[in-house]
Amino acid sequence: MRVAQQTAVVSGAAGGIGLALCRELMRRGAGAVGMVDVAPGVSEAAAELRREYEQCRVLDFQGDAGDPQFRSSVFDDMQREAGLVRICLPCAGITRDKLAVKVDRESGKSRIYPVESFREVLEVNLLAPVYWTLEMIARILEDRKAKGLGKWQPEEDPQGVAVFFGSVSSLGNPGQLSYAASKAALEGAAATLRMECARNGMRCVVLHPGYTDTGMVRAVGEEIINEYILPATQLGRLIQPREIAEACCFLVENAAVTGSLWADAGWHPRPC
Ligand SMILES: NC(=O)c1ccc[n+]([C@@H]2O[C@H](COP(=O)([O-])OP(=O)(O)OC[C@H]3O[C@@H](n4cnc5c(N)ncnc54)[C@H](O)[C@@H]3O)[C@@H](O)[C@H]2O)c1
Repeated sequence: MRVAQQTAVVSGAAGGIGLALCRELMRRGAGAVGMVDVAPGVSEAAAELRREYEQCRVLDFQGDAGDPQFRSSVFDDMQREAGLVRICLPCAGITRDKLAVKVDRESGKSRIYPVESFREVLEVNLLAPVYWTLEMIARILEDRKAKGLGKWQPEEDPQGVAVFFGSVSSLGNPGQLSYAASKAALEGAAATLRMECARNGMRCVVLHPGYTDTGMVRAVGEEIINEYILPATQLGRLIQPREIAEACCFLVENAAVTGSLWADAGWHPRPC
């Protein structure tokens, strides 16, 4: 699957890794990129990339990736304006970090992790990427059927690829109960989709980034970055979003890769 001339959709595209993914797709000659984000900044980000990469069709969509109607309308618009989406990069993600159980020193009472936060994280980090991918797969299969194409044959081009954005936290990370669970669950979903889709010429793979220099990581503060993150990162610096984008495009383009890639800069956390 070459990126060149293809139509891709990227969620979480207003900034961080998602924006770097859009830029890398365009640098590799993508025909069209749909930039999706709940943040209004996605329009400005798209305008900037339109100026940088005039050969690429850039469409922007502001909305919640967890909203099924919004998802469906994005795919409708992309298909009408730019052709079938064959690269799905559902990168939008959130954290709602808190210890799983915390005992108040003075009262001695404990508080357990709020279930509402857990559900919110699962909606964005697990269900949304899975359903954006199902939407792409369904439309590719419908298109084949409508064109009277039979079963996909290995001599044909690959039909589609989705990359899920896991995390080094999927192996467990104090304070990240819901985030770690959502990212680990992507592995099970990807493994199942890849078994179901291989015979249709599609792949679903997982990229596990280490700590990357984006708003999500900067939000934890310099102190945590310097005292906890960098000492446990072999590379000794945060990963650049562009490096994750390049790793992602490798996964998109190399049809022999069907599993997971850890782009973790040598993450080796100390046990608590
Ligand atoms: N930065 C890291 O160190 C790191 C490490 C491992 C995995 N990841 C994963 O990579 C992905 C990108 O992370 P990032 O660091 O660029 O984060 P970020 O916070 O910088 O960007 C995430 C983007 O997702 C958007 N978003 C959030 N909820 C959304 C929703 N419901 N619908 C649409 N858009 C929504 C945000 O507005 C934001 O623009 C995430 O899935 C994250 O979990 C990041």
